[in-house]
Amino acid sequence: MKNLVIRQLTPNDEAAFLAGVREWAGEDPAWHSFVWQPGMTHADHIRILENQFRGENMEEGKVPHTMLYGFLGGIVIGRCSVRHRLNDRLRLRGGHIGYAVAPRFRGSGYGTRLFHAGLDHLKGLGVATAMVTCAKSNLVSKRMIECAGGVFDRESFNDDDDELILIYWIDLEKHPS
Ligand SMILES: CC(C)(COP(=O)(O)OP(=O)(O)OC[C@H]1O[C@@H](n2cnc3c(N)ncnc32)[C@H](O)[C@@H]1OP(=O)(O)O)[C@@H](O)C(=O)NCCC(=O)NCCS
Repeated sequence: MKNLVIRQLTPNDEAAFLAGVREWAGEDPAWHSFVWQPGMTHADHIRILENQFRGENMEEGKVPHTMLYGFLGGIVIGRCSVRHRLNDRLRLRGGHIGYAVAPRFRGSGYGTRLFHAGLDHLKGLGVATAMVTCAKSNLVSKRMIECAGGVFDRESFNDDDDELILIYWIDLEKHPS
């Protein structure tokens, strides 16, 4: 496996981030970013991510958040978003952590690396137990969660979901840092 570097975006990462945008052409852009839109300057992008990290100027219903990106040879190939705490919406779906790897980089262990970096980050924030969810049909994500010690809690189906969601909890005390 090539050397994957996992960290937050910095002012020097515009080219790597945009190379990552191109990896997701034709897919839902939210797999790469919840913030960036075509035409947004990198400086504005970083400023919004920093605000989200500090929990400042947050949109209604959003909690403080860290976006970790996976860098491989100058391309952002995946991400792990870490919600610092839960709210009512995240308790129904989404939980503390979400991850994605660009299609052509899947199946090489990068998703697992990003997920574990997110769990470490959450543990560092003082969270004791991580809630993680996946669609019941997403067998790769289900496997990742169970391999990370996820304890199944329940299935959930909400009006704005189009599929059944599995909800798991991971004891971060047992998660190696
Ligand atoms: C889920 C996702 C992040 C996995 O990323 P990835 O880099 O392919 O994951 P990994 O290579 O670390 O593989 C994770 C596990 O799934 C297994 N796996 C990977 N691809 C697989 C496939 N096509 N079929 C079956 N198992 C597979 C791996 O063997 C590994 O298990 P192991 O650790 O026991 O070997 C990626 O598929 C993705 O971005 N999907 C779209 C977004 C998404 O669904 N995010 C999760 C929302 S809950």
